[in-house]
Amino acid sequence: MPPTPSSVSFDPTRGLVVLQTPNSVYAVRIGADGSPRHLHWGEPLDTDALCGLPAAASPAASSFETDPAPDELAPQTGARFGQAGLQVRFADGTRGAQWSFTGHTVRDGELRLHLADRHYPLAAELGYRVRPGSDVIERWVELTHTGADDSGPITVDRLDSAAWTLPALPDYRLNHLVGGWNSEFQLQRDRLPVAETVLTSRRGLTSHHASPWIALDDGTADEEHGEVWSTALAWSGSWRITVHRDPVGRTTWTGGFGHEGLSWTIQPGQSLHTPVFAGLYTPDGFGAASRAWHAHIRTGVLPAPDRDRPVVYNSWEATGFDVDQPGQLSLARVAARLGAELFVLDDGWFGGRTSDRAGLGDWTPRPEAFPDGLRPLADEVHRLGMAFGLWVEPEMVNRDSDLYRAHPDWVVHAATRDATELRNQLMLNFARPEVEAWAHRTLDQLVRDHDVDWFKWDANRVVTEAGWAGHPDPDRLWIDHTRAVHRIMDRLRADHPGLRIEACAGGGGRADLGILARTDQVWTSDNTDPVDRINIQHGFSQLFPAQAMAAWVTDSPNVTTGRTTPLRFRFHVAMAGALGLGGDLTAWSEEELEEAAALVIRYKEIRPLVQHGHQYRLHGPAGLTAVHYASQDDTEHAVLAWRPATRFGHPAPGLPLPALDPAAHYLDIDEGITHSGAALTCQGIDLRLPAGDYASRLIRLRRTV
Ligand code: DGJ
Repeated sequence: MPPTPSSVSFDPTRGLVVLQTPNSVYAVRIGADGSPRHLHWGEPLDTDALCGLPAAASPAASSFETDPAPDELAPQTGARFGQAGLQVRFADGTRGAQWSFTGHTVRDGELRLHLADRHYPLAAELGYRVRPGSDVIERWVELTHTGADDSGPITVDRLDSAAWTLPALPDYRLNHLVGGWNSEFQLQRDRLPVAETVLTSRRGLTSHHASPWIALDDGTADEEHGEVWSTALAWSGSWRITVHRDPVGRTTWTGGFGHEGLSWTIQPGQSLHTPVFAGLYTPDGFGAASRAWHAHIRTGVLPAPDRDRPVVYNSWEATGFDVDQPGQLSLARVAARLGAELFVLDDGWFGGRTSDRAGLGDWTPRPEAFPDGLRPLADEVHRLGMAFGLWVEPEMVNRDSDLYRAHPDWVVHAATRDATELRNQLMLNFARPEVEAWAHRTLDQLVRDHDVDWFKWDANRVVTEAGWAGHPDPDRLWIDHTRAVHRIMDRLRADHPGLRIEACAGGGGRADLGILARTDQVWTSDNTDPVDRINIQHGFSQLFPAQAMAAWVTDSPNVTTGRTTPLRFRFHVAMAGALGLGGDLTAWSEEELEEAAALVIRYKEIRPLVQHGHQYRLHGPAGLTAVHYASQDDTEHAVLAWRPATRFGHPAPGLPLPALDPAAHYLDIDEGITHSGAALTCQGIDLRLPAGDYASRLIRLRRTV
């Protein structure tokens, strides 16, 4: 049977919204008070079944119980005591909205519910979108001041993109990502307490420490089984998600941009739009949820999903700030020999940038390092057959820079407070139109002057002392800075269609669906140790596809951990994403260079599977992990397996590959042996891992019948 097509519909007589996706139904009912109330999110139900659903589990009849029907966006009025997704204040001091439902529009898979406050000049649109073939539901809100010019401003203390509600489950588990610099994307699974649990970034960046993706299940789901509800916010600045499990067993969460304590003003005629908060229901475990997110990111988020991500060489770990033309040329020549397709000149090429104390803001080549500018390097890189990439950190400035000396007022600061320096730098206020215009002009000129094919857009500090002297609505900084970053990236891409952008914020500090809508990949972590990377990549893959995950092979011992690992192991771990090289190649032995060149060739052979196929995470016993990539048509397969530490000298047992077809046969391309699918799914493949620590294997399989 062909999958049910995605659709949106609204039945005005029943006040019933139904969003249908191939494997789920999401339903909303307009409540008697005019507020849209959540009805169902989960397994497909037909309209009759939906109409028969009670508004919500009814708590005991008492004046102390909260309103039973969860809101699509709680408006801070009535007997509602959970976290309100919409918090507004009017000129007379009245708080909260009281809605009338004023209509709906449906167009191209998009539904908007129109609401108007019953007394004040405030209107809201709740947006919903489904895409063909996807179970992801995208939601957002647009709030508009509809008053006359002299009606005074409305203060917005909170404007979430959406609230989500789960059906009653016997228990709830919160799956989320935590971490820090060098330890991003650590998957955490916690029993959800009967309480409000807040996940947030107050840093002005998505953050290394928490990620605006969460998944909830009843505590029993695994990679292949169980219902999972997950959501992801498309925002690259501060954010907040509040998950509320109440004592009667109901769980809801509300989320959006900004952290607590911020407020924004809307004047008559102005609107405030939220980013998209997307939700996904999957009945088949965390693996299926991740694959559905990967598919959504490919079809609905990434700007150029069909392009292969190039094998990058990046000079940062090799040279740090010690950058000059001869040194970069030597690295470029070896990188080209190894099969790199893109050479990225990292930090240190501009202004007075000989350390992290100076130069940020002055985006002209440093004459001592590049006496004839960057053209000779860019031309040679192109002649070697590679694209040319440049590291930039446009949102930042050192005090020791011509830009700061000329425009000290451009930085984010509060006039009466010290401006905290982090990594010796301050942050520019991109919310100021003249700063945004300067940044766009500067980057655009770099592309034109130096034939730049790729920007690595870095951001190595977060917001402190957020102030905007003289501005009547200074908290706009938290929204408008991020919007300006997005807008500049969009303009650059539109004006230079060949340009690609890698998002970076001291490693993986800015990874979210908002940044991925205008970049090609994310620099996952400054930690390139392959053992740590297995965990980091595992967490990253919960939401993001492998094609968006930049992964370099670097020198051994590793600069972060001091761990010594074989080149092959480092390659096999990095081959699970968008492979790159990042070490001092001029110090590699001839034997290492030959092995590396062969492994790059091998990566390019499996690249279509890794970057465009389906991903299955596998866990074997005894510290063995693996990832299986299958082509969209199920004919080609690659398995990357890693065992960092051997245990008791035991050989690795067979690794079952449950995604294969038990009725088919598969040829192991490198061994020339054909296996039955039934054996591979059940007993598994014999990995024949070499003895010792840091053992790894790449297995390529082709379906024969
Ligand atoms: C942080 C990035 O994550 C690194 O890869 C490198 O680009 C440095 N910044 C440069 O300062």
